[in-house]
Amino acid sequence: MSSIVLETRGLTKHYGGVQALNDADVILHEGEHIAIVGDNGAGKSTFVRNITGVERPTAGQMLFGGELVDFHSPLEAREAGIETVYQNLALADHLDVPANIFLGREEYHFRLGPLSWLNKRKMRSESERLLAQTGIKIPDLSQLLMGMSGGQRQCVAISRAAGWGSKLIIMDEPTAALGVQETTRVETIIRGLKDKGIPVILVSHNLRQVFKLVDRILVFRQGRIVGSLDAQETDGNAVVSLITGLDQGVHENASYI
Ligand SMILES: Nc1ncnc2c1ncn2[C@@H]1O[C@H](COP(=O)(O)OP(=O)(O)O)[C@@H](O)[C@H]1O
Ligand SMILES: [Mg+2]
Repeated sequence: MSSIVLETRGLTKHYGGVQALNDADVILHEGEHIAIVGDNGAGKSTFVRNITGVERPTAGQMLFGGELVDFHSPLEAREAGIETVYQNLALADHLDVPANIFLGREEYHFRLGPLSWLNKRKMRSESERLLAQTGIKIPDLSQLLMGMSGGQRQCVAISRAAGWGSKLIIMDEPTAALGVQETTRVETIIRGLKDKGIPVILVSHNLRQVFKLVDRILVFRQGRIVGSLDAQETDGNAVVSLITGLDQGVHENASYI
């Protein structure tokens, strides 16, 4: 078995009386792509927020690259090599593509408060290189993000995530707001990450997408992990049964398929 990138032990998050996540034990291996599926409110985003430093867990532990970690902020998770892409794109609308890719990692000729001088040329050429790696075509990099389609914006977000030598990329419903073509584009990028050996955790409602892309499917239900299935050895019915907690013969819920 290849080495373990991420491991959570008993990861738990309660919001007052709401037990959003209970005792999540997850192991992700080097190069592995896993999906997290589950009904609305199952705890998927809570899991993501608690491994990426957005929130602190109520209980449990997390190991990253074999070391115990305890991220106090998303920045700490990023610095450790965990990049996250959300459905609601965390991009700056009023900035252009290079400025977004370098958000929080700006390159300077020199840095002295208001006298700082951004190295725009370097940021631009680096951005071109990153976008080329992911196969994304954006005709004019100096275009502001607010003028771009959802798909282009999401591609910028994923390039940013993929481009920093990240050790793990987490995507929470990355295509939920996208059209068919844009979704295909993002799926191609995710496949590229697989080829590069970068592990991915993909939260998705779209089971077709999940079966196309990942090695393993984790099913969350009411804050618990109720299944870990090899994508090659299971099918949509089995996954839907676990999502709903009902036998497929009794409960047909086509909206998941
Ligand atoms: N900040 C919060 N405060 C209180 N309850 C929350 C908060 N965030 C999420 N929850 C609750 O936790 C549960 C899990 O939510 P979430 O992780 O967003 O589910 P999913 O992403 O699977 O749809 C839900 O019952 C949700 O209402
Ligand atoms: Mg969610």
